[in-house]
Amino acid sequence: MKDIITLGIESSCDETSVAVVKNGREVLSNVINSQIEIHKRFGGVVPEIASRNHVEAISNVTKEALEKAGIGWNDIDLIACTYGPGLVGALLVGVSYAKGLSYALKKPLIGTNHIEGHIAANYISHPELKPPFLCMVISGGHTHLIHIKDYNQFEILGKTRDDAIGEAFDKVARVIGLGYPGGPKIDAMAKKGKPTIEMPKTHFDNLDFSFSGIKTHIINLHHKDPNINHEDLCASFEKAVTEVLLENTKKAAEQLGIKTIALAGGVSANSYIRSQFLELTKEGYQIYYPDLILCTDNAAMIAASGYYNYLGGMRSDLRLNAIPNLKIEG
Ligand code: KG4
Ligand code: ZN
Repeated sequence: MKDIITLGIESSCDETSVAVVKNGREVLSNVINSQIEIHKRFGGVVPEIASRNHVEAISNVTKEALEKAGIGWNDIDLIACTYGPGLVGALLVGVSYAKGLSYALKKPLIGTNHIEGHIAANYISHPELKPPFLCMVISGGHTHLIHIKDYNQFEILGKTRDDAIGEAFDKVARVIGLGYPGGPKIDAMAKKGKPTIEMPKTHFDNLDFSFSGIKTHIINLHHKDPNINHEDLCASFEKAVTEVLLENTKKAAEQLGIKTIALAGGVSANSYIRSQFLELTKEGYQIYYPDLILCTDNAAMIAASGYYNYLGGMRSDLRLNAIPNLKIEG
């Protein structure tokens, strides 16, 4: 079969990224232009500033991706871009650019769901991984436990009822003075501490999650005593949220009789969460997570997901629009 070269475009939040991926799994280039430094001083992503920076960056990022992959415009077989969920102005930059390219190059356009992209990052890091499996998607905006029935067939088994897990990481980090983005800072700090502080737990009858109780408890402890040991606080926070993730994932795995579990999304870069999930291999589970660079937002994962949508017969056209609250569907 002829190789299929996908150009992936991601601009849903604060990363402008363009990637070239062969046959959905082999990354030829994955250029990521992060705006973290720009948004840092505001303590979070400012949507309008994000959109402007995407506009400024996207052409050069695309040229660099083609150069690094050693291909020209005419070698592209299809164009996949994130059209949701995300910030509407930011998404529109990638969607408009992708539509322009699709029209000019006369190549198929595939609108891609950002969450499905995070899941597909695992296909790149693990060539042997195939559905069905369970995926715990943990990112700045999402906490979804998903049954990946097939490449294009998803069932959401549980989701957060309040904060996304990454939001909780970022909020805790901001309150205790670690800065933005908080996830990596808490990760580093927790390594120096011990999980000695008791945390509240919220349980539901189904597979839903809640993180706001844990987050609020940490914030209250810090406000009561700003000199509290922050290393122990971070370690206790990580332990509490990880227990919640593990509990629901194992419950779902047992209910469905599935032994293959993947992690995805920015928070799956967390070293403690990775190590605790890896412990499940002792109980006969196969555990997968993406390479670190593929955990946070990038276009290679969008190309991978777009490729499988393309194989599944999906096509978008020039009416494709940004959908900020796009849901995942089966
Ligand atoms: O997937 P992502 O890049 O963007 C969304 O789609 O939301 O995830 C970003 C989130 C942020 O909340 C960030 O703090 C978190 O991922 N994150 C981490 C780590 N690295 C990034 N959280 C915990 N530990 C990390 N090492
Ligand atoms: Zn993301």
